[in-house]
Amino acid sequence: MKDNYDNIVLIGMPGSGKTSIGRILAKKINMCFYDLDEYIERKSGKRITEIFAIYGERHFRTLESCAVKEISSKTNAVISTGGGVVLDSKNMHVLNKRGIIFFINRPVEDIANDIEISCRPLLANDRDNIYRLYKDRYELYKKCSDFEILNDRGILEAVKQIIEILN
Ligand code: S3P
Repeated sequence: MKDNYDNIVLIGMPGSGKTSIGRILAKKINMCFYDLDEYIERKSGKRITEIFAIYGERHFRTLESCAVKEISSKTNAVISTGGGVVLDSKNMHVLNKRGIIFFINRPVEDIANDIEISCRPLLANDRDNIYRLYKDRYELYKKCSDFEILNDRGILEAVKQIIEILN
């Protein structure tokens, strides 16, 4: 267990529960909550879908890396990331420096069953793309994390598991 960290970072697939878990966790342990995608949307004044549609994924990844740097400088923060943050090792280097990293691993069938695809441009309106993304990224999520949390028994149970590890 890392004994020196300022922030708690949640990584994992789109639809894995990072934002809901992060929000509840932050409240329970009295930390601030930041969602990387929300931060990017607020700063740019555009929805993630618009950023992808107008400027493309590459531009989004640039904004994402800037947001990672800015949010990582906070202390006492629970940071929920976008699913693709792990694709750039520099992002993970920055997040890892001052954060403890949890991979929220939700069974891919559960994700496919209830993910909102309209706001996820990478899925290109095809829910089956989630399986491909999971296969491509699973090892990366594992490699980039300090702990893996299996989110198969609801959000509150996942929050509980994280708190147990932190204690
Ligand atoms: C992405 C996931 C999204 C968002 C963007 C790209 C990805 O965040 O950052 O659409 O590459 O997996 P969520 O994981 O919150 O859906």
